[in-house]
Amino acid sequence: MPPADTMTMPRHVAVIMDGNGRWAQSRGLPRSEGHRAGAESVRRILNACTEFGIPYLTLYAFSTENWKRPKAEVDTLMKLLCDFLKAREKDLHKNKTRLLAIGQIERLPEKSRTVLEKVIASTATYTERTLILALSYGSRDEIVRAAQALARRVKAGTLEPEAITEELFAGALMTAGIPDPDLLVRTSGEMRLSNFLLWQLSYAEIVVTPCLWPDFDRAQFLLVLEEYGRRIRRFGGV
Ligand code: FPP
Repeated sequence: MPPADTMTMPRHVAVIMDGNGRWAQSRGLPRSEGHRAGAESVRRILNACTEFGIPYLTLYAFSTENWKRPKAEVDTLMKLLCDFLKAREKDLHKNKTRLLAIGQIERLPEKSRTVLEKVIASTATYTERTLILALSYGSRDEIVRAAQALARRVKAGTLEPEAITEELFAGALMTAGIPDPDLLVRTSGEMRLSNFLLWQLSYAEIVVTPCLWPDFDRAQFLLVLEEYGRRIRRFGGV
């Protein structure tokens, strides 16, 4: 494997963190333990992004569909989010990382929302690195909301339908101003997009690894980045 500092790094990595449940099940543990171990993986990968000079990281932490899980599991995930943000706020400042969130943030429990908004506000001025958490996020919902916002402007007479370009539409999405991901990583072997960043992933390289998310560490990440580098090199050749 080439050393990390000679590899072609993506500017923006998006991750579908899958396999927490299976990781726990295979150890005879409750699913909540899988999510807890998954939060530890988040910490590792965030540090790896800083180390490798990857400025944008988007994590699919909770989908609109995840609300259908048992209440106890949803509560565990929301508590883990709070604990993670409280524990990692210092690191975000140390590494000059801005926190952003995309999704139906208004649906999150008040406690999680308050912590989230506090950390977003306290890191808002950093420009070096950005961590984007997709929370209660669904890509179709995002696209519909963007269409509604533009339709309202057309109805108000401030926007001509012909003026709606790809750029204008992208600017109406929750990811406005964030470059599209260059690389999508999905752990645990599933070959699905699961309603994640459908518009933004149009040109992304997709790497699926069999590794379960709680086992995904710096070394696994390097393997994925190496695969990304190989693809980019092929793309540049004949
Ligand atoms: C998918 O695994 C994972 C999730 C639905 C939640 C992801 C959450 C974390 C990694 C921890 C908390 C997040 C942060 C940002 C601190 P699954 O439960 O669907 O796994 P399975 O397919 O094996 O059942």
